[in-house]
Amino acid sequence: MSGPGGSLDTGTGYGRPRPSSMHELTDVGAGTPMGELLRRYWHPVGLGGDAAATPRALRVLGEDLVLFRDGGGRPGLVTARCAHRGTTLYYGRVEERGIRCCYHGWLFDVTGHCLEQPCEPDGGRQRERIRQPWYPVAERYGLIFAYLGPPERKPALPRYDALERLDPGESLEADASSIGGGGPAVIPCNWLQHYENLMDTLHVPILHGSFSGPQFTAQMGLMPEVTWAITAHGVKATSDRRLPDGTVHHRVSEAVLPTLRVIPNPRVAQYARVESIGWVLPLDDTSFRIYTAGRVRRPGELASVRSRLSGKLWEELTEPEHQRFPGDYEAQVGQGPVALHSEEHLVSSDRGVALVRRVLRQQLDALAAGRDPIGVCFDADAPPITFEAGNFLHAS
Ligand code: FES
Ligand SMILES: [Fe+2]
Repeated sequence: MSGPGGSLDTGTGYGRPRPSSMHELTDVGAGTPMGELLRRYWHPVGLGGDAAATPRALRVLGEDLVLFRDGGGRPGLVTARCAHRGTTLYYGRVEERGIRCCYHGWLFDVTGHCLEQPCEPDGGRQRERIRQPWYPVAERYGLIFAYLGPPERKPALPRYDALERLDPGESLEADASSIGGGGPAVIPCNWLQHYENLMDTLHVPILHGSFSGPQFTAQMGLMPEVTWAITAHGVKATSDRRLPDGTVHHRVSEAVLPTLRVIPNPRVAQYARVESIGWVLPLDDTSFRIYTAGRVRRPGELASVRSRLSGKLWEELTEPEHQRFPGDYEAQVGQGPVALHSEEHLVSSDRGVALVRRVLRQQLDALAAGRDPIGVCFDADAPPITFEAGNFLHAS
């Protein structure tokens, strides 16, 4: 059959269905399925030094918050909007006992108690009725962790073997730079695009190996044999690369729930267990950032490991160069603010992505059934969590 103009065109863009996203997996606001799942875990919301005498505005899981450290050294995390008449505590002043709002001077401590109402008789006779909404915070590995979930389900802050057991000459370091290939600290797309990318193992030899030239090492550009599996913590990918001398580079990466990147050094400086853990922090539905803690051999090492694209750092590239030498930023932000999953065509090499989504859905089901999601532990004395991830060299 042919149209008025001749042969009938097929596969054109006309009339295709309205695209949609898996919002149950992407959206992070309070009351949404994923927002509630994420709120069952601790998340890093800053470096230790970010909690300071100058209030710092944060966006975490769609909530506007203010982080500070009072004069007694206690970190505090409160909602930005003052409980009195709603101006932001970002313009507040940090004092010995808490943070004082600029507008009418109410003083709140790190758990939101209102200590002073200077315009009220006797400093506010009813002030103990006021509570500035606050969240628990804890410091570990050079990071400030916060728990934004139901108080009765607050887990213990986990410990990780990769960050607890240091080899001789190693020290611990925290970093807040960007995604692997480089980019700004805040990445303008949905967090899941980055998190599921951890198990999109076969983009490594293409995007990082050949399309834009080798971004890590020539070895990582070799096409690996990959298998994926669900683990006790999430999903793992095993990549085997046969090297010219007949040995095999055996690499295990893990996506650990809820947002952990347990990815061994892609530059393969050494064959060793995973050196660092990264956390993908969803700021809201359309932006995220990453905090990392790792074992290093010299100060600044974590931040100094940067990809070069055509010999340049990401921020040095011109727009035409971003097009010729794309990296993680371009590929993931290029999927849109929130990926349109209905438009995808997943194939066998996307099995890792499919498994990440399956494990996340299993946790949504667990939550709906009143159970705790995987990885949640209420025992503060539980042993550190051990991962399989690392770069290893096998004889064959
Ligand atoms: S708005 Fe904060 S004290 Fe009035
Ligand atoms: Fe990548």
